[in-house]
Amino acid sequence: MFSSTPFVLTFALFLTVPLLFLIAPQILPPKQVPLPPPNNELADLSLFSKATVASTPSQRSVHSRLGTHTNPKPKIAFLFLTNSDLTFSPLWEKFFNQKKNKHLFNIYIHADPSATITPPTGVFENKFIPEAMKTSRASPSLISAARRLIAKALLDDPLNLYFTLVSQHCIPIHSFDYVYNFLFHNTLNRNKRTKQPFSIFPNYQSFIEIISDDPNLLDRYNARGDNVMLPEVPFERFRVGSQFFTLNRKHALMVIKDKKYWKKFKLPCLNLDSCYPEEHYFPTLLSMEDPEGCTHYTLTNVNWTDSVDGHPHLYTPEEVSKELVYKLRESNSSYSYLFARKFTPDCLKPLMEIADDVIFRD
Ligand SMILES: *[C@@H]1O[C@H](CO)[C@@H](O)[C@H](O)[C@H]1NC(C)=O
Ligand SMILES: *[C@@H]1O[C@H](CO)[C@@H](O)[C@H](O)[C@H]1NC(C)=O
Repeated sequence: MFSSTPFVLTFALFLTVPLLFLIAPQILPPKQVPLPPPNNELADLSLFSKATVASTPSQRSVHSRLGTHTNPKPKIAFLFLTNSDLTFSPLWEKFFNQKKNKHLFNIYIHADPSATITPPTGVFENKFIPEAMKTSRASPSLISAARRLIAKALLDDPLNLYFTLVSQHCIPIHSFDYVYNFLFHNTLNRNKRTKQPFSIFPNYQSFIEIISDDPNLLDRYNARGDNVMLPEVPFERFRVGSQFFTLNRKHALMVIKDKKYWKKFKLPCLNLDSCYPEEHYFPTLLSMEDPEGCTHYTLTNVNWTDSVDGHPHLYTPEEVSKELVYKLRESNSSYSYLFARKFTPDCLKPLMEIADDVIFRD
């Protein structure tokens, strides 16, 4: 009897060890549980690598591709990210003025396939990208959607040199001519000097907000678990900025080639109150890889005064006026805002009324 006690103890120990392995995943913090990759990851990887290969040929071969155009002009790729109707499409339609500008821009729409969206007409007709997937707040799905739009635009047209991300709640607050001349001012000047059609990767900057002194930054940094962003993203390098940006082609390519930062930013948030991955991924990536190449300012005015639950001020028809448009253009940087958000759908009528005389007169 007595001599069997150590044996029982040893036996019990043998039983406990495998049991620990079995129950450990349930008692350890969730960050240690292997995470399933988002189901869309493989399709995205294939799209991004296709776009990378198509966009990486040497400058010379891109020039020879462009040689087939008689008088190539750089284009702006407008990337619309939406999960509802493009309410302001009549205003954008006026902005694009397709008849006059059709060789100066392209449009790509990422529409959440799980939402019911009225197919837009006119300049927006057939612009939905078939690769679109479901998007939701507080998840990395908005990063993926923006990257899909960028990849499609890179693949589609080598003349797309700026990539402007907007949403269905954004409106233009200047004319297309103003926007185009503002963005390509440096490029076009260089053009005259060098007598080249234009440089493929000229030294022009991306317009993206990059902020380091936000009071919520630490909570947002740790939203996926304490310090899981390490070692790729130390807290001192973590940034926040507006979700809407205008990137040059070099940065567009950088964003779709990235694996290092995406590996961390794609992790699901544990703290949903501090989870806005799309407001961190792009500013952090670009400020770590090429801070000099970015202005650190956005071109889209958002009114965060009295914001509720992470939503900015929503302008109503009574607020729409000539004075509001002028006010929305004012920024603290050396240039004017070009776009603004957010507006209720019924702002369309008063906005259309002042479109010709105010918004597009500049
Ligand atoms: C921003 O929103 C606040 C209310 O939230 C409003 O009082 C203010 O006029 C708005 N600013 C502009 C420039 O429209
Ligand atoms: C400019 O910056 C000041 C100080 O940070 C701020 O109070 C003001 O609202 C800003 N104005 C605009 C138009 O962004």
